[in-house]
Amino acid sequence: MIVGCSVKNLDSSQQTKVEEIVALMTLEEKVGQMTQIDISAIVGQGDKLIDQEKLTDAILNHHIGSILNTPNNKAQSIEDWRKIIQIINSVSEKTRLKIPVLYGIDAIHGASYTKNSTLFPQAINMAATFNTDLSVKEGEITAQELRVSGLQWNFSPVMDIGRQPLWPRLWETYGEDVHLASVLGSAYISGYQGNDISAPNKGLTCLKHYVGYSVPNNGKDRTPAWISERMLREYFLPSFEAGIKAGSPTVMVNSGEVDGIPGHANYHYLTTILRGELGFKGFTVSDWEDIKRLFVRDKLASSPKEAVKIAVMAGVDMSMVPFDYSFYDLLIELVKSGEVPMARIDEAVSRILKVKDQAGLFQGKKLPLSAESRFATQESTAINLQAASESLVLAKNSNNILPLSKDTKILITGPTANSLSVLNGGWTLSWQGDDDSLYPDDKLTVYAALQKKSTGHVTYVGGTSFNDKIDIEKAVEAAKNQDIIVLCVGEKPYTETMGNIFSLNLDQSQVELANALFATGKPVVLVTLGGRPRIITDQAEKASAVILGFLPGMEGGQAIADILYGDYNPNGKLPISYPRNTNDIVLYDHKPIENFDTNSYNPLYPFGHGLSYTQFKTFGLEIDKQHYKIGESISLSINVENTGILKGKETVLVYLNDIAASVTRPNKQLKAFKKIELNPHQTEKITITLTPYDLSFINVDLKRVVEPGEFKIMVGSEVVHFTVAE
Ligand code: BGC
Repeated sequence: MIVGCSVKNLDSSQQTKVEEIVALMTLEEKVGQMTQIDISAIVGQGDKLIDQEKLTDAILNHHIGSILNTPNNKAQSIEDWRKIIQIINSVSEKTRLKIPVLYGIDAIHGASYTKNSTLFPQAINMAATFNTDLSVKEGEITAQELRVSGLQWNFSPVMDIGRQPLWPRLWETYGEDVHLASVLGSAYISGYQGNDISAPNKGLTCLKHYVGYSVPNNGKDRTPAWISERMLREYFLPSFEAGIKAGSPTVMVNSGEVDGIPGHANYHYLTTILRGELGFKGFTVSDWEDIKRLFVRDKLASSPKEAVKIAVMAGVDMSMVPFDYSFYDLLIELVKSGEVPMARIDEAVSRILKVKDQAGLFQGKKLPLSAESRFATQESTAINLQAASESLVLAKNSNNILPLSKDTKILITGPTANSLSVLNGGWTLSWQGDDDSLYPDDKLTVYAALQKKSTGHVTYVGGTSFNDKIDIEKAVEAAKNQDIIVLCVGEKPYTETMGNIFSLNLDQSQVELANALFATGKPVVLVTLGGRPRIITDQAEKASAVILGFLPGMEGGQAIADILYGDYNPNGKLPISYPRNTNDIVLYDHKPIENFDTNSYNPLYPFGHGLSYTQFKTFGLEIDKQHYKIGESISLSINVENTGILKGKETVLVYLNDIAASVTRPNKQLKAFKKIELNPHQTEKITITLTPYDLSFINVDLKRVVEPGEFKIMVGSEVVHFTVAE
């Protein structure tokens, strides 16, 4: 199940080197290494990138180990990033022990804080591609473009599982399925890190946000989740376990709370499970200001000092403070008074220094990777376009209204039709990603891409950003002379608490626009863009075709136009269940009780849904035996035939159900997938092996077990049964 490779282990000489350095360090130097500050604490005024005095104070007086974020919350040029890193390095070289500073950045869909970088579809779209190779490529290209910028440490991938659609970070996840997230996240790590993270084109990833952050009960960011330990082990730990096996050397802590314990205070999660069970050897970093919040927000600590003690003793190794040196001052006091043992400090510092060493930071001056043929290359752009294309889900296509011919007269309108930010979402060129003025001039919005491809028949009504008001009467009038309407709805960019909403319903203004356009009687193609599945049940029913776009990235406009005109055959599949109603959140791997009596799984579109312009048939599902012993693997095969007239890609989804067990089992769970491309009338037999792990679950004693009994495997409409015995 785990894609990827393990990162080169430290040999004993490196181990010794770190121990030697730690032995030489003063308490202040050690605690400084555990301190991470935001770049805003050291940026200069006016044209000056860095304030030399503040930087000197940070590194020489406070011995800080890490800096994060982009200056002024805006993407920088490659040159400016290089200057910033060079200025920081020149000061860290003056420190007594010459310990380098590790710079961290949220490059969550490409080098998102470097101007003109390759900006990929967000994770929810990467999940819709069901394409492991594309995830590897995204990792490779992101690492390379960060290294060109002189940066290395990326706060990505998000390994949280997206099972709460209201949550404003759903789109940062690989969707609702544990297996899919584990495989794609691991693939990303293997691309980003390779097998040597110190290589000039590689870097360090960070698994976040450990653990249980993604399912706040009320849907708002950073609010409580209640996850029993069994469910934690079943749904939320496996993706982190996969990321650790894939070699990620850092983990960022859950900014919320689970079962009444804030992530940053949870010794059981951060130490007993993470270190003791998952075998994590790297270092943990707090999330933004979260140690302070144990006091100011959670009232778990009675003072800022107690907050530091609780977090450090729970297992947080580095504090993203990020604006001051309070963590540094308080932790020094705590060690001096004996409240935090020096051994815990040595442990944290050793972990941090080992990771710095693994990243090659001690190997002397490193020049950034040359940009030539390594930054935003044509090849990267082509891969990005492929990722965007494979991430779009054609959910409905009545009477094959799509694809359109290039001379179709089209009205395109709606708040997401003519903006690049709505294709990219948060963490794009700025934190919220919503500043259209920062976006490049040469990338295409949906409208611009349609216009470029058509033979001159595209009319647009609307503004240039999500917030521009659309004149409904004008749109209705314009529709009269057209063959078809492309209506682009959805959400503006956002992330974290700024994206909290109170209902999944589409904004009223968009509903009114849609109703007025449907009333014209012209066929409507509905295109949705945004990070969450906003309720479109009524609009989708009235529309002739529906494309679910989510956040397809910088090439998204082009990719949507390619699909609308048939220059690309769609193949994306939903990585979440698309709800029919705002309060009917039932996921595809629901329990039998959720599909019993008056309960049902009745989403607008189910997990795995996605149409093509060709048709596929899956048949002949077979397994190698009918009866297995516990511990044996299951080998299955299935034929896939392209029965249509176009070449296309199909993803085969293999589901399993444990028919009766001592803990209720999901009606089905994804255990494997394979994406293939077939010519018309071509048939391919694919084989897949399911391991004993795939048959296992967490029992009443919180142990992962395989229980004897009957199981079934489902692929398309085919089902096979088998038994497992002691
Ligand atoms: C987010 C993290 C992010 C960090 C640094 C936090 O607010 O929760 O995902 O990595 O900021 O920017």
